[in-house]
Amino acid sequence: MRRVPAEAKVYVDGQVLDGEQACVSVFDRGFLYGDGVYEVTRTVRGEPLFLAEHLDRLAASARAIELELPPHPRIAAAVGQTLQALGQPRAYLRIVVTRGAGEIGLDPACADAPLLVVIARPLQLPDQRLYRDGAAVVCVPLRRNAPGHLPPEVKSGNYLTSVLATAAARRRGAYEAVLCDQQGHIAEGASSNLFFVQGGRVRTPPLAAGLLPGITRRVVLELLRGHGVPCEEAPVTRQEAAEADEAFLTSSVRGVMPVVRLDDRPIGTGRPGPLTRALGVWYGEHIGEAPP
Ligand code: PDD
Repeated sequence: MRRVPAEAKVYVDGQVLDGEQACVSVFDRGFLYGDGVYEVTRTVRGEPLFLAEHLDRLAASARAIELELPPHPRIAAAVGQTLQALGQPRAYLRIVVTRGAGEIGLDPACADAPLLVVIARPLQLPDQRLYRDGAAVVCVPLRRNAPGHLPPEVKSGNYLTSVLATAAARRRGAYEAVLCDQQGHIAEGASSNLFFVQGGRVRTPPLAAGLLPGITRRVVLELLRGHGVPCEEAPVTRQEAAEADEAFLTSSVRGVMPVVRLDDRPIGTGRPGPLTRALGVWYGEHIGEAPP
């Protein structure tokens, strides 16, 4: 049986279809090689959260893999059409652009034309208990790519590092995997950015560690600084992470989620900390929706 998310609406090739009906060619290079780029966000009261920022990052990812995106207004119109068809105030939204289908072969010149797909479905946030009690994370042996490899700041369809890291974390009963850089310092989560609080100061790994420049990461840094909380983008060793008073992760869909265990040991008191809670409220005010 096909496990297609219920109630999904999908824009593909100029048409909006039900999730079960939507399909792409097996000769599409997104399918064959992960040759494409994507973005994920959610809506708040029907409006995609930080859409301009996500489209900018999509454009940056596309430039990095020399993929020509459909014009901006066409992507924005496709997003609007898909969300309208879904008709839900709170939706999960995924924008995918692949290099398209064509003769099988690594040469990108084999592709005919970029394919735009937009997936919208009712938003399902993680279990409320993860927000209330905090999540457990574990460091996995897989590393983020070193400079000179496919850069982690490119959100391409090639997500196997994160897929395998997540599988390893779930096998160990953890919610999220922590990936380190080549030096063994913390880089980011499999699909989130990580923050640590020590003595009232917030630290998150720098972009130079090799990580996705999260849109929520940037918003959260601005919010914290706006509330007078000292923040730095600086390397975080595993030891420093383990000794933090508080920790949290961020992503566009999940917002701010407390992290209370690292590698089977509690972080701080083992409960979501006061700064993380305050940030959850500030972030909720900022996006216009109460924290989960
Ligand atoms: N991913 N780091 C990685 C590797 C990610 O995949 C994501 C988001 C983030 C957070 O970025 P942002 O705040 O812009 O959402 C960080 C989404 C959830 C995904 O691929 O499904």
